[in-house]
Amino acid sequence: MGPVIAPSLLAADFGRLSSETRRVSRSGAEWLHLDIMDGHFVPNISFGPAVVKTVRPLSKLFFDVHLMCAKPEILLEPFAKAGADQMNIHVELGEAVTPLIWKIKSLGRKVSLAINPETPISHVLPYLERIDSLLVMTVHPGFGGQAFIYEVLTKVQQAREWREQKKLNYRIGVDGGIEFKTAAECAEAGADTFISGTGLFAHRNLRAAVKKMRAGVMRET
Ligand code: DX5
Ligand code: ZN
Repeated sequence: MGPVIAPSLLAADFGRLSSETRRVSRSGAEWLHLDIMDGHFVPNISFGPAVVKTVRPLSKLFFDVHLMCAKPEILLEPFAKAGADQMNIHVELGEAVTPLIWKIKSLGRKVSLAINPETPISHVLPYLERIDSLLVMTVHPGFGGQAFIYEVLTKVQQAREWREQKKLNYRIGVDGGIEFKTAAECAEAGADTFISGTGLFAHRNLRAAVKKMRAGVMRET
């Protein structure tokens, strides 16, 4: 499974979202990560389907929509229509998870399951056969630019072990505090998908930064 580098638009200049999207498109990254925050599930608000729809024609990249939302059921269809290729929902939503997975699949989109730092990794076990990707949060969701939480690396290792044991092929993503060093450390633990906001956008030459992150994670896999 080749590595995927996914710049997060949350760290872009919001005054220039169109040119920032084009910049990511030309950077050599595979995915564009779009963080949706509703002010309930997390104490912050970002942007909605209208923004995703606006930037969709500017890029052919795979759009990875991360729903940090208390009621994703009302948002799945709008985001599918707006151009999401994959939707991440949080395992912390409990009983809502199974119907959400089916709904995303019925919309013809890929499913990713996200897990917060404080949630035990065992909570994702019942769903592993049904997901395309697992997103291990390496910060508490809600804000960009936070420090990577090292304790979460054992979850990445566990996710890799289960994938091997169960002969599954879900991707293992990491999200939060990912820069060159932490990306390589996550790759060593078993991650193959690297979401990075400030870690990439901090560099004027995004293309060079993506290339450097890719080279770093490839040495570890
Ligand atoms: C955090 C979001 C992340 C965020 C990462 O709530 O889910 O995707 O954009 O930002 P950095 O890479 O700056 O930690
Ligand atoms: Zn995210």
